Amino acid sequence: MKNFKRYTVTSALPYANGPIHIGHLAGVYVPADIYCRYLRLRGKDVIFIGGSDEHGVPITIKARKEGISPQDVVDRYHEIIKKSFEELGISFDIYSRTTNKVHYETASEIFKTIYEKGEFIEKVTEQYFDEEVNQFLADRYITGTCPHCGNENAYGDQCEKCGTSLNATDLINPKSTLSGSKPVMKETKHWFLPLDKYEPWLRKWILEEHKEWKANVYGQCKSWLDQGLQPRAVSRDLDWGVPVPVEGADGKVLYVWFDAPIGYISATKELTDKWELYWKDSETKLVHFIGKDNIVFHCIVFPAMLKAEGSFILPENVPANEFLNLENDKISTSRNWAVWLHEYLKDFPGKQDVLRYTLTANAPETKDNDFTWADFQARNNNELVAILGNFVNRAMVLTHKYFEGKIPEITEETDYEKQMLAESVKIKANIEYSIENYRFREALKEAMELARWGNKYLADTEPWKLIKTDEARVKTILNISLQVAANISTLIEPFLPFIAE
Ligand code: MF3
Ligand code: ZN
Repeated sequence: MKNFKRYTVTSALPYANGPIHIGHLAGVYVPADIYCRYLRLRGKDVIFIGGSDEHGVPITIKARKEGISPQDVVDRYHEIIKKSFEELGISFDIYSRTTNKVHYETASEIFKTIYEKGEFIEKVTEQYFDEEVNQFLADRYITGTCPHCGNENAYGDQCEKCGTSLNATDLINPKSTLSGSKPVMKETKHWFLPLDKYEPWLRKWILEEHKEWKANVYGQCKSWLDQGLQPRAVSRDLDWGVPVPVEGADGKVLYVWFDAPIGYISATKELTDKWELYWKDSETKLVHFIGKDNIVFHCIVFPAMLKAEGSFILPENVPANEFLNLENDKISTSRNWAVWLHEYLKDFPGKQDVLRYTLTANAPETKDNDFTWADFQARNNNELVAILGNFVNRAMVLTHKYFEGKIPEITEETDYEKQMLAESVKIKANIEYSIENYRFREALKEAMELARWGNKYLADTEPWKLIKTDEARVKTILNISLQVAANISTLIEPFLPFIAE
């Protein structure tokens, strides 16, 4: 494996149109945080990037519904999201946002560079237009009758009744949701990234050079590539977003999936003058933590953008997770079926690590998984309390009771003591291996294994009995127990930073 000098770790920028829920956490932010905390403990040079994704049509729709501006919407959620991440101990080096000035500049520059290299295709197409409000209509702004099931309230991109994905032009009796009027077709010019042109390169880069990517990620990439890539529009007719920075593009903005990933770069610029080291040096390892719905954008579209621009490094890995369900039902913002982070933090003050623990132990790393409150309770009681808490507590209490809280010295080491210390070393190596391969559930299980060893050691050696007959031996036992406890506190820090402290 290549030895990298530094790490740039990104986590998907959440849309600032709602708060964070446990699905986001288990899929992206908790694993990314574990990875970064681990790298810092190893003394690595790492930056951990996060921020709010503040463009896109859903934000404009929400604003319109509430009679406020899109900026008001994102200001509200950016604050809620940022604060809740902080309280959960997600240790971003920067949590930025895509409405700030640096980001507008960075996204414009990157667009311009690609544009000036002649890499975009300019194409005039026809699109629905609302003559009453004088606006082109995003797919979500058009409703009509689904040609498949007759649902009269299908959207321009999807019928939610039968689940079919649609084009706005498929709808029967299309209607603008802005004015209620019948939209007309009108010509509009857009810029397209010719993904088809990058397809051979992408095939080689991913399918041949990154066979080590997680099976779910590699599999999705392969299926996209096997279907054949098409040019993709990177601009939209919309008044919310980064303006397309070329002549004759009035009323057009960059497509949200063009500007958002550039947000990682803008945030790095905001963080450090040395940002180029983190984005342009081949000795930097770039890793994107995302959910599975983001795979195509991070493995295909964004790398193609970076390649077209020409001066950036590409991700080494994109450890995407699957989805987390809640009590056997899909998490849904619109149905309010979720455990919201800011509410959890209020309801369980000081219990951040219990959530971190449950979400990691049950992370949807290779398949969709389920969060249940029964499991949350069991993990707290039977694992955090009964194994980890119990061991550390006994080691501390006995040391206070017999030796006034001072660490006693080792008098004589038996094979059992040697074994305990050897276990610590072995478990540390196992955890390193698991984390470096993005297997965080396995890593956490290993860390808990050391606490299990600790409990077994105390149960086998029974210092509370021995104290009457062999104080010297008890000294050794408690010294070793405290060493193991100290090792545990280091090993669990990436997962359970509050308990570790
Ligand atoms: N906002 C997107 C989502 O929640 C993720 C954007 S990731 C970025 O699915 F790379 F584009 F920033
Ligand atoms: Zn339908």
